Amino acid sequence: MAAPGSTSGRDWQEYYRRTRDRPPRATTVFALEAFAREGRQALHCVDLGCGGGRDARILLAAGHRVLAVDRSAEAEAALAALPVALRRRLAFRRADLADFTPPPCDLVNASFVLFTLDAVAFARLWARIRVALRPGGRFAGHLLGPADDWARAGRCPWVDRAVLERLVAGYAVEYLDEERCRSVTPRGLRKRWHVWHLVLRREPARPPGEALTSPD
Ligand SMILES: C[S@@+](CC[C@H](N)C(=O)[O-])C[C@H]1O[C@@H](n2cnc3c(N)ncnc32)[C@H](O)[C@@H]1O
Repeated sequence: MAAPGSTSGRDWQEYYRRTRDRPPRATTVFALEAFAREGRQALHCVDLGCGGGRDARILLAAGHRVLAVDRSAEAEAALAALPVALRRRLAFRRADLADFTPPPCDLVNASFVLFTLDAVAFARLWARIRVALRPGGRFAGHLLGPADDWARAGRCPWVDRAVLERLVAGYAVEYLDEERCRSVTPRGLRKRWHVWHLVLRREPARPPGEALTSPD
């Protein structure tokens, strides 16, 4: 089974076409609403692995600035099709996330992309995200759990609850949803998913020993 990051630009083009009109990810919406409740405006957002822009679009529409990052030229083309009024606050950087250092920002959005990196690159980028986020800033995105087909095949890094505990040190966990399901990917692959949906707020670390719980 192919790992999610190993596909060609042409495959992504098809993915972008199929997902372009889908609503933004729930994690992105959650983070956006949390900032809105705090009255925070004109934020600096970085959208890692932006794809066709389904998340970038709502961030731009809310009046925020977005640096969208993707290694695919097709992603850049997809974003170029956004309305001019939104594109005024958008910048695109074509880069491999394995070598990318996010600039200081208020939101790092990384939907369904971090598991395309190898374990070393993922660990490095995870640390850089923490450094980039200003206090009160948020991470919104997804990681894969050990029961995911791609994880079970050893094709991408995965995170169990114990590892997740370590990864979220230094953050308040605002949204945590563990999803296990079978579904067909936008490119027609039937697979078992095990996904952590996460929104984290950069804050002082939780006291040692405090349990990781879903904030219901
Ligand atoms: C599964 S798509 C997700 C797109 C979008 N975030 C979404 O939720 O619909 C993964 C995206 O990440 C990009 N990507 C994958 N690995 C990458 C890497 N190492 N560096 C930069 N972009 C990468 C792909 O080009 C693709 O656009």
